[in-house]
Amino acid sequence: MIIPVCDEHLIDAVALLAAEIWTEHYTPIIGPRQVEYMLDKFQSSSAISKQISENFLYYIIEINDQHVGYFGLEPKNDQLFLSKLYVRSSHRGKGFGSKALEFIENLAIQQGLKKIVLTVNKHNSVTIEKYLKMGFRNIGPIVTDIGNGYVMGDFILEKFLHNSKSNTPASNMRGILDH
Ligand SMILES: CC(C)(COP(=O)(O)OP(=O)(O)OC[C@H]1O[C@@H](n2cnc3c(N)ncnc32)[C@H](O)[C@@H]1OP(=O)(O)O)[C@@H](O)C(=O)NCCC(=O)NCCS
Repeated sequence: MIIPVCDEHLIDAVALLAAEIWTEHYTPIIGPRQVEYMLDKFQSSSAISKQISENFLYYIIEINDQHVGYFGLEPKNDQLFLSKLYVRSSHRGKGFGSKALEFIENLAIQQGLKKIVLTVNKHNSVTIEKYLKMGFRNIGPIVTDIGNGYVMGDFILEKFLHNSKSNTPASNMRGILDH
């Protein structure tokens, strides 16, 4: 089941998932201090709450009453930025990421958006392989300064959508998703 994150309790649940998954997954890639900094800046309850109040949409992936992952979306002009997609390590490789992406693509298509875009750490190799299998293509590197002396060295990946309608603005997305 995919649950829209619409209250403080669910925001706290996303922050908990993020702390668990990011600490485990990113510590070997970027080190503990950068992980701690990024969790505080981007995935604390207050940061998530602020993002939702701006333009983000968050969802939790729930299986058998258990939160097994989450994703965060940001509609931008004619594209949907897949800002976060995380499945707990115990549940990876079982199709939950693909199912979440199917849901995300349907939302984007309903809104007439043309493509899904994401960034992924250059050294996050297994994840990059999974995204390529899910139909994304790598369009090149990007380096982003995230403050405090830290940078993110990523690849930009994109996936074009078929059957997209041409003229529903992305700003209408929140209304449709609320139903
Ligand atoms: C990336 C992630 C969300 C994918 O979710 P998942 O549930 O593991 O993905 P799925 O099981 O649906 O597999 C997705 C695709 O990768 C393939 N795949 C699964 N395991 C794989 C592996 N070890 N190596 C390569 N491909 C693999 C699947 O066959 C599937 O391809 P298909 O659609 O052609 O069948 C998840 O692995 C994750 O949270 N990774 C760690 C955190 C991360 O890096 N998140 C992304 C940040 S940008």
